[in-house]
Order: sequence, then structure tokens, then C-alpha cells
Amino acid sequence: MKEIDAFQEMVDRLTDKSVDDHYNPYTRFTWPDEMPAGSWWMSPEYLTVHGTGLVDDEDTLELLAQRETVNFFSLHVHGIRELMIEVAQRIHTPRFAAYSEYLHHFLGEENAHMWFFAEFCNRYAGGIYPESQAPLRQEDLDDAWNDVIVFSRIVIFEEIFDYFNSRMGKDDRLPPILRELHAVHHHDESRHVAFGKQFVKHLHERACETADGGAERRARIEEYIKAYMTYSVRSLYNPDAYRDAGIAQPLKVRREAMSHPDRDPFHQKIMARVDRFFVNSGIFETAWGDSNDVGR
Ligand SMILES: [Fe+2]
Ligand SMILES: [Fe+2]
Repeated sequence: MKEIDAFQEMVDRLTDKSVDDHYNPYTRFTWPDEMPAGSWWMSPEYLTVHGTGLVDDEDTLELLAQRETVNFFSLHVHGIRELMIEVAQRIHTPRFAAYSEYLHHFLGEENAHMWFFAEFCNRYAGGIYPESQAPLRQEDLDDAWNDVIVFSRIVIFEEIFDYFNSRMGKDDRLPPILRELHAVHHHDESRHVAFGKQFVKHLHERACETADGGAERRARIEEYIKAYMTYSVRSLYNPDAYRDAGIAQPLKVRREAMSHPDRDPFHQKIMARVDRFFVNSGIFETAWGDSNDVGR
């Protein structure tokens, strides 16, 4: 009971914070007429070919930084839209009544993110990329376990973004508008991540109590969440971005980059915080990082 009170208190606190931090996304940014020539749109060490030796021409790398920025923002647009639909379907059901107010802020904020990331791509880069990977097959589960899956996906998604946003928001090599988009997103996401982890824990406990919480079911959930983590890391490697940067044989480069041994420690770093969370909260028996198959 005490734990539930503490959780509710946190939800109330984050709701108040959302009200205080609220901004108008349509007036928040000063969009320059054009992006400065010869600038890195992404920190070069975050390019998907970094450390692989697959591309070493500086001009191509700079162009790839532009295309991978578009890919990164496109991933937010498509990924969060799907997840917003899931949240919207639940927001006024009895299972979610206690969190409905917070979730309204979540939807409002994600709608703003979706807008500003797409706006950047439309203004400076000819638009966003279409969804490039086939969506991960959805498990056929009862409501309580589906809730766990949906909010786990949200927290994984947000942790990946936060890894990059928190760092690129402070990188002076990036043009000011890009730094600002990363920093503003990071600020909102710090609330979402704090909520998301506690909420997933709460939903998992609820599913174990009210639905089939047997070992076999739990193992299947763990397997699905891990597959989603792998799927998410792979989505950073977009062959369209390679092609648009003028890289020959984009599919081959994608395969080679993804499976390069130096990339695995980086994949682990992006996922470290959320992987630890799943293990510590008992949702995972073993860490994703111990046996991920991103490169396979
Ligand atoms: Fe977001
Ligand atoms: Fe978010």
C-alpha cells in the first residue's frame, strides 16, 4: 500500500511539473532560414559507421550525419505515433483512470515532439523517412500483459533517445537549432523516463497478480521486450540514410556496420540504463546485453 501511495505521489508531482514546464512548441524555437554549411548535424562519434572503418571520407561522413539526424528524428515521429495510439486507447479506461491526467500531459508533449522533429526535417532536409523496418510482431496477450509491453516499449524508446539527446544537446559542434531540439526533448523526457520505469514496474506487478503470471508467461514477456530492444537498435542503421549520403551498397554497409565487433559495446551503452532497470525490477532474468543479437 505504501508503495502505491509513493507511486501516486510521484505521478502527481510529475503532473505538476508538466504544468510548470509547459511551453508552446510552435513559438518555442527560432528556426534559422537555412542550416550553416559545413556543420556536423550529429556528433561524429554517434554515426552508425563510427569505429567500423567502413566510411572514412570526411565529406561523406558529414553528409551521413545529416541523413542519420533525419533518420533519428523520423524514428521518433513514427515510433511515438504508434505508442501514442496505444496510450490514447487506454487513457480513459478504468485500469488507467488514476494516471489519466498525467497521460494527457504525456500525449501533449509527445505531440509537440513529433511536430518539432518533423518540422526540422521538412524545413532543412526534404522531409522525414518512411518507416523502413517491418514492425515487430505483436504478441497475443491479455490486457494486463499488453499494458506491460506497451509501456516497456515506451521506456526503451525514450531511453535510447535520451542517450543521444542528453549528449548532443551540449555538443558545440552542432548548429544551435539542433542543440536546442535535443536539449528541449531531453528536458521533457527526463519526466517521462522517471514515470515510465515506475509505471512499468507497477504494471508488471499488476499483471503477475491479476493475469497469468506463471514462469512461462514471464519468460515470453522477457523475450519479447528483448526482441524490441534489438529491433530498436537496428532501426538506427537505415540503408536509406547510407544511400542518400552517397554510400555504395547501402544494405551491405548496414549489415557490416551492425555486426562490427566494435559496435556491440556501443549498443550496450545505449541500452545500459534500461537493461539494468529490467534486471533490477525482476522483469528480466538475464540482461539483454549478455546475449543480444543485434549483429546477427
Ligand atoms: Fe518525445
Ligand atoms: Fe517521451
